[in-house]
Amino acid sequence: MGHLQITPSILNADFASLGAEMARIGSADWVHVDVMDNHFVPNLTFGPTMVEALSRSTELPLDAHLMIEDPDRWAPGYAEAGARSVTFHVEAAKAPVRLAREIRAQGARASMALKPATPIEPYADLLPELDMVLLMTVEPGFGGQKFLDLCLPKIRRTRELIARTGGDIWLQVDGGVSLDTIGRCAEAGADVFVAGSAVYSADDPDAMVTALREAAAR
Ligand code: DX5
Ligand code: ZN
Repeated sequence: MGHLQITPSILNADFASLGAEMARIGSADWVHVDVMDNHFVPNLTFGPTMVEALSRSTELPLDAHLMIEDPDRWAPGYAEAGARSVTFHVEAAKAPVRLAREIRAQGARASMALKPATPIEPYADLLPELDMVLLMTVEPGFGGQKFLDLCLPKIRRTRELIARTGGDIWLQVDGGVSLDTIGRCAEAGADVFVAGSAVYSADDPDAMVTALREAAAR
């Protein structure tokens, strides 16, 4: 497993000041940007033009999480817009292998996300096409939801399937990750941690990034 990475989500940051909000998390490894289309999830955020502007406004690499229909059509454009990692939902993808290859061809890391009720086993053979798997630990759509403990066995099983490939595939968890829950995720095998409200509701977001990193390593 690689080193533990903390990826704050700006979903619960101040959308009118995102440049300044990203400057508050200088010790993060990535900035997680949640793209929502009001169809795949019942919420709407922003598209590739915003991602392009965000990538010009920070030194940190952008980790784009696409909660959208038809990622086959749209996902490679987020790599073109400057995202260094692009995650599509397998529930929405028509041809996930082709899509992962197209994202990699744009020079970004290719990642596949699963909602809490989507099993990993049917997709085990796809793992070598991927740089990361994102396991949702809440139903996607909103920040500030409670972590679903029922996802822990899937984190464990996914880590085992990744180990069998022999590849360096990262395992990201997203939703309800906090000082209370990050240790359980790390223990189950996650190594990349998205945290939205935990970071942006803290008085000092950068200190929270460090605290989360320490709590994951314990
Ligand atoms: C939710 C998003 C998450 C969200 C996490 O659908 O994918 O990235 O920002 O927020 P918290 O950490 O508050 O659950
Ligand atoms: Zn997300």
